[in-house]
Amino acid sequence: AAPLRLGIAGLGTVGIGTVKIIQKHAAMLAARAGRPVTISAVSARDKRKNRDADLSTYAWEDEAVALAQRDDIDVFVELIGGDEGIARDAVTAALKAGKDVVTANKALLAIHGQELAELAEAQGRVIRFEAAVAGGIPVIKAMTESLAGNQIRRVMGVMNGTCNYILTRMENAGLPYETVFEEARQLGYLEADPTLDVGGIDASHKLAILAAIAFGTRPAFSDVEIEGIERVSIDDIRRAADMGYRIKLLGVAQMTGRGLEQRMSPCLVPADSPLGQLQGGTNMVVIEGDSVGQIVLRGAGAGEGPTASAVMSDVIEIARGVRMPSFGQPATELIQPQAARTAVP
Ligand code: NAP
Ligand code: HSE
Repeated sequence: AAPLRLGIAGLGTVGIGTVKIIQKHAAMLAARAGRPVTISAVSARDKRKNRDADLSTYAWEDEAVALAQRDDIDVFVELIGGDEGIARDAVTAALKAGKDVVTANKALLAIHGQELAELAEAQGRVIRFEAAVAGGIPVIKAMTESLAGNQIRRVMGVMNGTCNYILTRMENAGLPYETVFEEARQLGYLEADPTLDVGGIDASHKLAILAAIAFGTRPAFSDVEIEGIERVSIDDIRRAADMGYRIKLLGVAQMTGRGLEQRMSPCLVPADSPLGQLQGGTNMVVIEGDSVGQIVLRGAGAGEGPTASAVMSDVIEIARGVRMPSFGQPATELIQPQAARTAVP
């Protein structure tokens, strides 16, 4: 069968992780995808940067937009980041050029997901983003595929590895914020702008994406009530521990009589509960469906291997010919969150 040819833009933590999986597991991926998965060309800011993978057999493009439109790629894999500028331009160019898109970019999806999903559908293409929420946890596919027969009542969880790492390391090791922040950087958890992490914005991007899938609403990041962890002190953490609690940056999206509520804030959770036990860069997503009841998904929410694992799940789905709509239903049918209020008894 003809290979599925990728163009990968962004060769940082996630991009290089993706290249490594494709190089290491070529035969396994071909068997599972039903066709070889190959890389035609790559792009990043600095061609001369020393990277942790051999890229010598791939063409190099200086411009991500040019990569997105190359004739020798079928799928544009966007691993640059940012909700505006180069990532948005390149993804738009790729869809217009008739390419499918895989991205890990939750900021882009939470803010422009509606427009991009509509463009993809108009072009007969797909845009897939398993890696955008909770790193290696297959939560997008769980919600759009495995739980498709459920009316979702609530989705909540810990969705930022950096914040969970910082909060648990401060408590366990008694280390200052600055030290554990630097450790998170070494582990590849941080966004290019880490204030997105500690300010609760990155986790809110993820919550907005999950809420859209859960409730059939347009992604509405601007509706999320956000408080980050910047004001959580070591004293707060100790006082909570004395009372048998831990502080977690918890996101909750639920349909209530007042409409769709989306909240992201530091919350007290019982220390012996599953959320309280969550350590390091681990994420946990709790989904409540009317038929299935409660589902708890737990795993690595950030870092090279886990995030690249999720990217590859999308690549393999595309190679297999799966053409499911990005948000679990056609983007043109997603309703405004305000309109969802009237849909609730
Ligand atoms: P990263 O390590 O900072 O890598 C970003 C890459 O993009 C770098 O290779 C950089 O090039 C390239 N780049 C930046 N500006 C560019 C431009 N103007 N043109 C072309 N390339 C450009 O980021 P990352 O952690 O891999 O994250 C990538 C995406 O995955 C982001 O959307 C992030 O939110 C998402 N994500 C990350 C994780 C994680 O654990 N890290 C998890 C889930 C999702 P140079 O290398 O030449 O500087
Ligand atoms: N910066 C993000 C985190 C990466 O710490 O969870 C994964 O989305």
